[in-house]
Amino acid sequence: EGKSYEHLLVSSPKPGVGLVQLNRPKALNALSTPLILELNSALRGFQADSSIGAIVLTGSNKAFAAGADIKEMKDLTFSAAYGSDFIESWSHLVTFLKKPLITAVNGYALGGGCELAMMGDIMYCSTSAVFGQPEIKLGVIPGAGGSQRLTKAIGKSRAMEAILTGDNISGKQAGEWGLVAKVFETPEECTEGAIAQAAKIASFSQIAVKAAKEVVNKSQDLGIREGVEFERRVFHGLFGSKDQKIGMGAFAAKQKPEWSNE
Ligand code: HXC
Repeated sequence: EGKSYEHLLVSSPKPGVGLVQLNRPKALNALSTPLILELNSALRGFQADSSIGAIVLTGSNKAFAAGADIKEMKDLTFSAAYGSDFIESWSHLVTFLKKPLITAVNGYALGGGCELAMMGDIMYCSTSAVFGQPEIKLGVIPGAGGSQRLTKAIGKSRAMEAILTGDNISGKQAGEWGLVAKVFETPEECTEGAIAQAAKIASFSQIAVKAAKEVVNKSQDLGIREGVEFERRVFHGLFGSKDQKIGMGAFAAKQKPEWSNE
């Protein structure tokens, strides 16, 4: 924090909430490598800032992001892509992020923009949102997790259709298919709603929030038996935290908990 970026606006609109707005309006927030490197830095800053409990990532009213930067990729060769590990700067965007990330999508979220939105732990959108994986129209395929995350989110047949045809998915449809948790009427309501939910998350014990995110994410990788066992280990572990005593003690005493984050 305190840092300024060329392609991002970074702020804290409410106590405990970190906000990153993609801000490359001339290119509809096309996700160039410099932009992604800045995003890595901003998210790392919030991860390291103990006053921040949850993060919101959004774009403009017109575009969350219209994809990876096509002009940057246009002349790329196989050996340059392979040699420089092109897209590597995207891989760690969310792996180091232990705090919840909410993505709030208004306007276009296409290609890499859709993939970035799907990296959110919670996704919201407004009725203006347009999701899609149009890479097929450019002679390529999704390259930042789209084929995997979209399929997990909306099912194989719908994901196949979107990825093979390049057809877009409206905000309303995204809500009906469960791609997003909630569809807001306007972009303003979407961004405000995301910030309000982030503030709510930030008001709880940060130890419990971290554990909750970790166990839900495990469900994506583990079978049900191992997943439930993992959950139980982490659940048991929380009885070693101060905040478990604070939270349950406050309930029994009919008081409001004052979290220690310990
Ligand atoms: C570079 C882009 C861009 C992109 C838009 N722009 N999308 N530049 N990469 N992905 C630029 C345009 O070139 C134009 O610049 C300016 O932004 C405004 O865009 P317009 O096309 O004039 O706007 P509009 O007519 O409103 O159309 C909006 C749009 C269209 C439908 C979203 O821009 C579009 O189709 N964009 C590409 C979408 C796409 O294919 N995304 C997938 C990319 S591949 P100038 O200089 O002309 O004003 C991908 C692969 C990911 O993401 C792989 C892993 C990371």
